[in-house]
Amino acid sequence: MKLAISGKGGVGKTTLTALFAKAFTKRGYRVLAIDADPDANLAAALGFPNPETIRPIAEMAELIEERTGAKPGTVGSVFRMNPKVDDLPDKLSAEVDGIRLMRMGTVKKGGGGCICPESTLLRALVQHLLVERTDVVLMDMEAGIEHLGRGTSEFVDRLIVVLEPGKRSLETAEKIRELAEDIHLLKLGAVGNKIRGPEDEAFLEKNVKGIPLLGFLPYRDSIIRADMDARPPFEGSEDLVELADEIIEKIIQEQGK
Ligand SMILES: Nc1ncnc2c1ncn2[C@@H]1O[C@H](COP(=O)(O)OP(=O)(O)OP(=O)(O)O)[C@@H](O)[C@H]1O
Ligand SMILES: [Mg+2]
Repeated sequence: MKLAISGKGGVGKTTLTALFAKAFTKRGYRVLAIDADPDANLAAALGFPNPETIRPIAEMAELIEERTGAKPGTVGSVFRMNPKVDDLPDKLSAEVDGIRLMRMGTVKKGGGGCICPESTLLRALVQHLLVERTDVVLMDMEAGIEHLGRGTSEFVDRLIVVLEPGKRSLETAEKIRELAEDIHLLKLGAVGNKIRGPEDEAFLEKNVKGIPLLGFLPYRDSIIRADMDARPPFEGSEDLVELADEIIEKIIQEQGK
């Protein structure tokens, strides 16, 4: 199962990714979580003891040069477009409680869609993870779907768009839907987060367009408190892991159809 999680800043992408990760491990799956958000904090949300020590791959200059044949940032140089990456998930991921994590990091670029050694390596890696790997792969993305492309979109089982009750998260969802359409990624699903009651659910049901709603997660002080104490969101909010699991079950059921 490969899920990509996107949505407006602060809606709860990282929180949901962590809840999904926990729910999948409870089902007995090996989970590989990928922090594809440049403003990365998934490691902390998964309960890694020293999150800052996990280096993003985009910053591994030596590795990028070794694999692509060119130094990072050398736009226009000649380099391998199909670098070897199949050994990287095992070499470069850290593990805690059955959840492995890789950090992608940011590719600094002048214009949109640069073709440079570091973006080529990351793209090859994402392709490998989505196409070849059998594990559960969860990608915590930014408010875009930058690391996905036409070649990989068919392997994403679901692009989850996280919403919160409010028009702005819906506007971002609409943009994500258009980007997804551009790369022929049509398997979208929305999750409403920070729900305070039936009115919030009704608001999202009425206003989300073109993305089926998979479920809702309540607004919880325990989530905020966990964040304040740098604890994972699933600690002290076990019922939210159950709700995340119901969403997983729904995706699995719909796939079977
Ligand atoms: N269901 C919830 N109830 C209460 N607070 C929540 C809930 N979900 C997320 N939060 C809080 O909202 C904030 C943002 O959550 P999170 O970091 O998961 O969002 P994000 O979409 O990953 O943000 P970013 O765009 O910065 O990566 C955090 O303080 C988190 O604790
Ligand atoms: Mg986040």
